[in-house]
Amino acid sequence: MASNNIKASFAVVFVFVLTLNAFIGGIDAAGECGKTPIRTAAASLSPCLNAAGNASAKVPPACCTKISALIKTSPKCLCAVLLSPLAKQAGIKPAIGITVPKRCNIRNRPVGKKCGRYTVP
Ligand SMILES: *[C@@H]1O[C@H](CO)[C@@H](O)[C@H](O)[C@H]1NC(C)=O
Repeated sequence: MASNNIKASFAVVFVFVLTLNAFIGGIDAAGECGKTPIRTAAASLSPCLNAAGNASAKVPPACCTKISALIKTSPKCLCAVLLSPLAKQAGIKPAIGITVPKRCNIRNRPVGKKCGRYTVP
């Protein structure tokens, strides 16, 4: 009897953890950044903040380095960050943010690729 109760409690905790994972996963746009939470990916792009909100600002080299690496490993993640509410809160404008790879002169950027309703120039 007691052992059945223990089993039942484990089952409840197990289902709870699964639900929680699904919930958190959903917030992170279905893992566009793999195991990296989108928040962490966005934070690593903080040198780009100014340039992604201001088309006439110069893009700092530290930002270009990060963008270049992310384009290589996970362009989807970059797009997810750009479109995230987090970016919006930080003053990033997707229409300007999407021009950052070009402003960095990143040669292997995915030109013509869509990110939401924006196209990589
Ligand atoms: C955008 O950047 C330019 C060049 O650095 C600067 O002169 C201008 O004030 C900035 N605009 C805004 C809205 O921050």
